[in-house]
Amino acid sequence: MSVVLGIETSCDETGVAVVQAGREVLSNEVASQIDLHRVFGGVVPEIASRQHTKVISQLVEKALEDAGAEVDAVAVTVGPGLMGSLLVGVCFAKALAYAWGKPLVPVHHIEGHIFSAFLGEHAPEFPFLALIVSGGHTQLIDCRAPHQYAILGTTRDDAVGESFDKVARLLGLPYPGGPSIQQAAAGGNPEAFSFPRAMRDKDTLEFSYSGLKTAVLYALRAEGAAPAPADVAASFQAAAVDILLIKTRQALALTGARRLVVAGGVAANRLLRERLTKEVDAEVFMPPLAYCIDNGAMIAAAGDSRLRHGVMRWWAISRRRPMRVSRCTPHRGTR
Ligand code: KG4
Ligand code: ZN
Repeated sequence: MSVVLGIETSCDETGVAVVQAGREVLSNEVASQIDLHRVFGGVVPEIASRQHTKVISQLVEKALEDAGAEVDAVAVTVGPGLMGSLLVGVCFAKALAYAWGKPLVPVHHIEGHIFSAFLGEHAPEFPFLALIVSGGHTQLIDCRAPHQYAILGTTRDDAVGESFDKVARLLGLPYPGGPSIQQAAAGGNPEAFSFPRAMRDKDTLEFSYSGLKTAVLYALRAEGAAPAPADVAASFQAAAVDILLIKTRQALALTGARRLVVAGGVAANRLLRERLTKEVDAEVFMPPLAYCIDNGAMIAAAGDSRLRHGVMRWWAISRRRPMRVSRCTPHRGTR
């Protein structure tokens, strides 16, 4: 039963956690930089890496102290992400692993999000389908066995979280857009505008979110229009979530997967969580809210599994050619 220290610095959260046996979080420290970036309306890479440098030592010390356990390995996000930010975490993790004489486990950020599902009350079993929805990614991934993945569909342009952030900006709502839109939408009519559901009828599991953002822009700029921001937010959120549901249902039907993991920052969205629980014909695994946004615990969980399976090479999850719906192969042993 290994104890793994996980370090995540790929974007604007410094996350450090200690996790036992890949599931039990002994400590979890997250220093968010949102307040520093908010005035700019998005993440400023130079500010992000400098802030990671400032806080990482104290976060590691605090996480180790709170965990009170001896660490067997150090797992760190090696990409994708902002290079300056990644370097802070990678160099720190390397130095610790070297000084302690413990293995260093490189973890792909998206694999980390997938493993955040193992930090919930019930852990999924392989094989499962994963819907990863974050600020940088919108992906349907066929997770056949630990560390064996096939990307079935990804976004052609904006990621879904990115579209929340951009639409929030159009509405004058603060960064990050996801929580702001969710809050604004609470008082709005989701049917006030019928925004497009791109790719809904296409024979592909690809996503596209830039047209949705543009449709919102046109609605706001329409002559004589003075739409209630709450209605725009609610209608946008309804469309953004609807597309995720449509493509996820298609992917479940095609792979025959019985389990669905939903992770990444947008997995914190209340409407998405409600609709997935009610409307999807699969057992749904969503991490607790604290592990949806970037954190070190998910990196430690993925690192623990890599260590157990002896898969220490750098995992490159490449962008494959768009997967045609008709070419998906069903999971073995599933319906
Ligand atoms: O996974 P994450 O913390 O960082 C990346 O890997 O990108 O995801 C951040 C994204 C942001 O775009 C943010 O607006 C979105 O997750 N987000 C949400 C919610 N909370 C965060 N989107 C929709 N609803 C939310 N409640
Ligand atoms: Zn992330």
